[in-house]
Amino acid sequence: MADPITFDFTGKTAIVTGAGSGIGAAVARELARSGALVIVSDLDEGGAGAVAEQIRSEGGRAHVFLADVADYDEMESLTGFAVKQGGGLHLAVNNAGIAGAIAPTAEYPVDGWRKVIEVNLNGVFYGMRHQIPAMLKSGGGSIVNMASILGSVGARGSSAYTASKHAVVGMTKAAAMEYAAQGVRINAVGPAYIDTPLLEKNLDPAFLKQVGDLHPIGRMGTADEVSALTCFLLSDRAAFITGSYHLVDGGYTAQ
Ligand SMILES: NC(=O)c1ccc[n+]([C@@H]2O[C@H](COP(=O)([O-])OP(=O)(O)OC[C@H]3O[C@@H](n4cnc5c(N)ncnc54)[C@H](O)[C@@H]3O)[C@@H](O)[C@H]2O)c1
Repeated sequence: MADPITFDFTGKTAIVTGAGSGIGAAVARELARSGALVIVSDLDEGGAGAVAEQIRSEGGRAHVFLADVADYDEMESLTGFAVKQGGGLHLAVNNAGIAGAIAPTAEYPVDGWRKVIEVNLNGVFYGMRHQIPAMLKSGGGSIVNMASILGSVGARGSSAYTASKHAVVGMTKAAAMEYAAQGVRINAVGPAYIDTPLLEKNLDPAFLKQVGDLHPIGRMGTADEVSALTCFLLSDRAAFITGSYHLVDGGYTAQ
């Protein structure tokens, strides 16, 4: 790993959804290393527990909260838990997401479509719906919504995922304008192919072997590289950045 960029999140409370694996786990660990109290939230108890345990073993502070981002009430409880544990909410990363079925649009399974939209899009809305009021009460905050390169370009077979991520980018811009003057910054991050369990679970192994070549840099990205950008956007060093979509894509969308 490159030299870590250092941030100071001392005194801040952070929610990270999908923090039991991949990008969310990397962000949760980096936030905790930088002083935040991190609410490690996921559906997967084993993954979330392991990440929280690792944070604590490194001297950081973390609590696990199991919640389905596609459940409005569970997202309300998640924010309530964070406020109770930390005395307020300052940072949130709406990161949980699924790849969904791979099929041409005219053959796309309707249930599968609804599931992707419910998790990847509605889940981000349910998150912000509760996080923003809590941040306003806490004197301001910063949110990063995890989009994708598929927030700006398309991919064959992934119409639901592409639609959900484009919508996350749009929703991020609208919400950012609404709360900019009240001290809540909201941005979206767009990773290209990142080496996480999401890809192993969903991509054809032959395609996975060659996927690095799709990026001008010649390889996939790492979860830590996405975390570095995410933590920068969350930090006060990004105080003038809101309502924008930031790629971490090895040049993928420059082609
Ligand atoms: N890996 C990539 O190549 C890549 C590229 C661009 C964007 N992304 C996005 O980054 C985010 C994280 O992806 P990752 O690669 O780390 O995936 P991952 O599969 O490694 O981790 C995702 C985590 O989200 C959790 N999760 C799934 N559905 C959930 C739900 N309904 N409620 C709560 N938690 C849920 C899973 O249990 C898992 O722990 C996703 O939004 C994904 O779309 C990933």
